[in-house]
Amino acid sequence: MILPIYLYGQPVLRKVAKEITPDYPKIEELITNMFETMYNADGIGLAAPQVGLDIRLFVIDLEPLAEDNPKYSGFKKVFINPKIIESTGELVKMEEGCLSLPGINETVEREEKVRIQYLDENFTPHDEVYGDFFARCIQHEYDHIEAKLFIDRISGIRKQMIKSKLNNLIKGKVNCHYKVKPV
Ligand code: NI
Repeated sequence: MILPIYLYGQPVLRKVAKEITPDYPKIEELITNMFETMYNADGIGLAAPQVGLDIRLFVIDLEPLAEDNPKYSGFKKVFINPKIIESTGELVKMEEGCLSLPGINETVEREEKVRIQYLDENFTPHDEVYGDFFARCIQHEYDHIEAKLFIDRISGIRKQMIKSKLNNLIKGKVNCHYKVKPV
């Protein structure tokens, strides 16, 4: 089932998400729906707050990028109760977008590498290190469960430049091809 995506201005995006336990109701169905919602919106990552739930869960599937670079093939993952243990390496600049901020793309600086501990969809624990674009996606989604958005990481001047776009999102004046939560 495709879920409506919550856009900038919805309070749930600014709530620090809570950990969940394996008895969380219909978790399997939720994960399936999150992937479906993400594919429908042509996204490569989606966090639970973006579908209105303040829980520590996000999904990533980099398969759409595999056509250009085979290293992304098969990277389809569920992260439950993740914890970034450390971020290391140089700060790398790259343009980002977000399904909760349609029409906005900005250059964001992030650490090159992360070490992350998380539970997968079977609640099996993992402790892994990721670099380059994997690390970027993980950090972007992790921000969501920490109540942050990528626009929090841009300069004041850039933020000023996109202010009218942000105001339109808050007012529900939005034009995107996927289903969104009405204001
Ligand atoms: Ni996002």
